[in-house]
Amino acid sequence: MVKVAIMGFGTVGSGVYEVLRNNRKSIMTKTGKDIDIKYILDIRDFPDHPEKDIFTKNFDDILNDPEVTIVAEVMGGLKPAYDFTKRLLSVGKSVVTSNKELVATYGDELMQIAKANEAKYLFEASVGGGIPIIRPMSQCLNANNIISVAGILNGTTNFILNQMISKGKAFDVALKEAQDNGYAEKDPTADIEGFDASRKISILGSLATGGKIDYNNVYTKGISDITLTDIEYASKIDSVIKLIGFFKRIDDNKCIVKVSPMVVSNDNLLSGVNGVYNAVMVEGDAVGKTMFYGHGAGKLATASAVCGDIVDIAENPHKHNTSYWEPECSLQILPEEETVAKFLVTIKTTDKNVSSLAAKIGIEEVIDIRPDEVGVLTKEMMKKDLLDAIGNSSFDIIKVIQVLG
Ligand code: HSE
Repeated sequence: MVKVAIMGFGTVGSGVYEVLRNNRKSIMTKTGKDIDIKYILDIRDFPDHPEKDIFTKNFDDILNDPEVTIVAEVMGGLKPAYDFTKRLLSVGKSVVTSNKELVATYGDELMQIAKANEAKYLFEASVGGGIPIIRPMSQCLNANNIISVAGILNGTTNFILNQMISKGKAFDVALKEAQDNGYAEKDPTADIEGFDASRKISILGSLATGGKIDYNNVYTKGISDITLTDIEYASKIDSVIKLIGFFKRIDDNKCIVKVSPMVVSNDNLLSGVNGVYNAVMVEGDAVGKTMFYGHGAGKLATASAVCGDIVDIAENPHKHNTSYWEPECSLQILPEEETVAKFLVTIKTTDKNVSSLAAKIGIEEVIDIRPDEVGVLTKEMMKKDLLDAIGNSSFDIIKVIQVLG
């Protein structure tokens, strides 16, 4: 029998409990491993829970119990998750997690501690909720040079944008629905402002390059200033607006890593990813484009990935951790202003004649749907050149949104 512990009995932790208990027999049939939950750690009391006796508030119960070999850390945040994880790995217990903040911040160190103590640190649930993406990128695609990753990596913002686009719902109403469904972070600012997606693209970028991409260096812009007008401009060019986590290898020395709202053409598969669904498009030099799609947040979807890691370790306790990434990345991240792309620019003006601007920048289309502003779809150009050209003109920029190429 394999004894496990769950640290954190929130949305994901209770989902892990449910999946392991409900699917215990089928997991045993498929793998020959009987996985039992010995402890659940939480600071709160659950007096009405049918298994109230397995709850503990004392981390040492788990740390000092030699029977427990695998621990699911689903507490979220850095404190005390970082300290607990280090101590567990240091005594040779394997840890699986959905904690993207911890993986993005200290993943390299925790993987090394795991390796040194013949334990594993697995984090399939940290990106894309229930979507298998960490294992495919680190194992199935590891013979490729990863050229690009473009993903809808945050279910809450995708749900909100989708409600705005398809139902014209107000931002706050859609956010409340996402929270009620258990998609949002404790503080939804992390979702809305793109921080959650930035942790996730830094994890995928680290997998893609084999060196740590620090999210502090990742340009991050959320959706809080996206309006129904922006959505209407996008629809006029047969596109939608999505929050995209983006990585691109420029050459052997440089890459782009960013999170921002982007205009996504209806021809692109990512445009059809709606609601809480996430999708990640990964392009490798050998495989070409691949796409991974599924529930990006929520109790059971995320628990599915956490439990998959638990079963993997139960089946292969002695197989070494794949080496994911080194503490330093050799690729330099380009500044945001050096992004080369098409842009959807909205300009404040009552004069719809933009020919003076067209003399300075390539314009593909002018979208005239409001009395005192105009939308302009540019040709491919460097963002810095675009901002300089408009800055030196008589027009005032309202907004610049990159078009996903
Ligand atoms: N708040 C996150 C989201 C949860 O909405 O995608 C999953 O990481």
